[in-house]
Amino acid sequence: YWGQNSYAGVESQKNLGFYCQDHSINAIPVAFVDEFFGPGGLPTINLANSCQNGTFPGTNLLDCRSMSDQIQSCQANNVLVTISLGGGDSTVGFSSDQEAAQFGETIWNLFLGGDSDTRPFGAAILDGVDLDIEQGPSVGYGAFVNKIRTLSSNNTKRYYVSAAPQCQFPDAYVGDALNTAEFDMIYVQVCYTTHRVNVHNVPQQDAWAKNQSHNSDVKVYIGAAASHTAAGSGYVNGSILGDIAIATQRAFSSFGGVMLWDMSQAYS
Ligand SMILES: *[C@@H]1O[C@H](CO)[C@@H](O)[C@H](O)[C@H]1NC(C)=O
Ligand SMILES: *[C@@H]1O[C@H](CO)[C@@H](O)[C@H](O)[C@H]1NC(C)=O
Ligand SMILES: *[C@@H]1O[C@H](CO)[C@@H](O)[C@H](O)[C@H]1NC(C)=O
Repeated sequence: YWGQNSYAGVESQKNLGFYCQDHSINAIPVAFVDEFFGPGGLPTINLANSCQNGTFPGTNLLDCRSMSDQIQSCQANNVLVTISLGGGDSTVGFSSDQEAAQFGETIWNLFLGGDSDTRPFGAAILDGVDLDIEQGPSVGYGAFVNKIRTLSSNNTKRYYVSAAPQCQFPDAYVGDALNTAEFDMIYVQVCYTTHRVNVHNVPQQDAWAKNQSHNSDVKVYIGAAASHTAAGSGYVNGSILGDIAIATQRAFSSFGGVMLWDMSQAYS
């Protein structure tokens, strides 16, 4: 994840383009769309110390068109760039499936293959959406994803949908959506309270991926803290995390990789 400069109080978050030179990275969710229905009826995005060039008139939607070249160069480097919705401090949620589907169209027009005068990243066409929903009602996320899938179905470009559920299963916010809509990647967040051997709840997530998920090819990722200060507990260093990843890959065919929260701490 990039965008939240989670490294407490220090502006350690560099431009997105900096991280895309690292060939170990395959995908970067840009975090966050933190309000769905802000001023002017448009969503709000927050990128901490990045993109501080103001908003589109009548909205709180950041105008980050100057980032469009960086995003396109990330994509040229084979790094997927997606837009992440939600986060720990957000005003998100739908009152109905219909409202959620309509919002799917808004996100498509603002960030993906659609069209709008207020595209935060201008001509850059992002590679998909991520749902890191941690508050608000759980209504509608399946309908939202299905709308994105419908709108992207006629495209030659492949779009990705991911989610970052909590490790407690099923997830309170996107649990239903995960069973009713097609997700490509699941970035399971670290469980802060359980013993480390079950820190990512991988066996249960693997069983879900194969038996309950709407997409039986969905890939399950270990979502890990990028430093001691990136999570309450559960941090392990890169060498141990690498060992855990290899063991998990051997044991579970749904294993997709490792997600880190967040970039600002992974390189500090
Ligand atoms: C802000 O706008 C200026 C002028 O267009 C541009 O040079 C700069 O890169 C922008 N900064 C950000 C963070 O978008
Ligand atoms: C996809 O293309 C088909 C055939 O051209 C068309 O009937 C359908 O409406 C299109 N779907 C979308 C979502 O644009
Ligand atoms: C990683 O952490 C383990 C356990 O605390 C420690 O033994 C090891 O030296 C650390 N490795 C590195 C590269 O810091």
